[in-house]
Amino acid sequence: MATGILKFPDEFIWGAATAAYQIEGAYADDGKGESIWDRFCRVPGNIFEGHTGDIACDHYHRFLDDIKLMKNLGLQAYRFSIAWARIFPEGHGRLNPKGIDFYNRLVDALIAEGIQPYITLYHWDLPQALQDKGGWANRDTAYYFQDYAAEVTRQLGDRVDHWMTHNEPAVTAYLGHLYGIHAPGLKDYKMAIQVAHHLLLSHGLSVSIIRDNIKSESKEIGITLNLSPSYPASDAAADLEAANRYFNFNHGWFLEPLCSGQYPASILAIYEKYGYLPSMQPDDLRIIKTPIEFIGVNFYFRDLVKNAPGKNILNYDFVKPPDAKFTEMGWEVYPEGLYVLLKKLYLEYKTPKLYITENGAAFQDKKSPDGKIHDPLRIDYLQRHFQQAHRAIQEGVPLAGYFVWSLMDNFEWSFGFSKRFGLIYTDYQTLERTLKDSASWYRQVIEQNGVLIG
Ligand code: FCB
Repeated sequence: MATGILKFPDEFIWGAATAAYQIEGAYADDGKGESIWDRFCRVPGNIFEGHTGDIACDHYHRFLDDIKLMKNLGLQAYRFSIAWARIFPEGHGRLNPKGIDFYNRLVDALIAEGIQPYITLYHWDLPQALQDKGGWANRDTAYYFQDYAAEVTRQLGDRVDHWMTHNEPAVTAYLGHLYGIHAPGLKDYKMAIQVAHHLLLSHGLSVSIIRDNIKSESKEIGITLNLSPSYPASDAAADLEAANRYFNFNHGWFLEPLCSGQYPASILAIYEKYGYLPSMQPDDLRIIKTPIEFIGVNFYFRDLVKNAPGKNILNYDFVKPPDAKFTEMGWEVYPEGLYVLLKKLYLEYKTPKLYITENGAAFQDKKSPDGKIHDPLRIDYLQRHFQQAHRAIQEGVPLAGYFVWSLMDNFEWSFGFSKRFGLIYTDYQTLERTLKDSASWYRQVIEQNGVLIG
């Protein structure tokens, strides 16, 4: 096998990502309001072994030390999210200055170390007070989000150039409102489609306000989507059609409105039959496609899909690929899927600039007797994905940066603390952090701005 280094473009950005509820803890400190995840975690049976994000990694109190670790890693950028309920404890109206203070200090400390903040405004932790008014199923929430986005960017926009409105609206809509495995834990198809629409609307409503609040020339506003290419389980036409249906349900439903101002016609036709069409106002789709600078791609696996009449209203099912490798999440390791996806986004959806805003893997990491965490599987996973990203860039895909999920082991939603995704190991008894081997390896990638061939 050839050796050598695949160099990334000079301006390529290397970072790591987290989300507020997964790391901050301090769930009721300094006037923070309750969020839907605070509430959801308290319902027995929702989360693995009853874990909660009450303390999580205690990043709220340890962020200065965490930034030292980021510096040690050589990170050029850090993607994190803001807890809406720290800023507006009731979701709107009364501002909590201490919440703003925290993010001001975080941003200042990052910038002092030369690490660029990339901020996500919504990573799933809706203020519970808004859920009590109907949550994302209520159109008003889109306007409350617009006010929240305006306030945060007014406060931080003089120092932060890169903003994402949402993280994975499909996950909020479907896992939160159709499958009931994420907060707020609802199972209602029609509502899930309405929620998806309001999430997209809230994005579109906020873009120009955010843009006005940021003074820098290099400002970039975008949205992050969870995306996976759909592969048909066989050569049969029915499987190919099922793979396309699934892609359009899970991904096209968000990509098409954002990129071309319409919902996928094939899915609309099915929803019409079931009475699931979202209610919308005449201007909504125009607002949703307000131009943005980038789309953030969260990539973890591909989907292998077969036709399965009667399984669900879209008649698809997943197939477990034979002879494949899986992570601790049960997700197939399929790096080439990243390349295939990036090409598809660029060629078929004519997406703007792209960032990988999340990619990484959970494995069974243990502290060795030498005190270190040897995680060769994670290094292999990342290396192979970086190579595929490089391949896409070589073929013209405007990929501008890569954020590894995650900076440190953290609260993995319904799996609690049982899945470790970090470059940094978190000891949940002592909250001590230890760099894993993958962190040192990643430092080298960043230093060289490249990854080994082969
Ligand atoms: C993504 C989420 C992120 C994390 C990873 C593993 O869907 O955005 O918070 O849970 O998966």
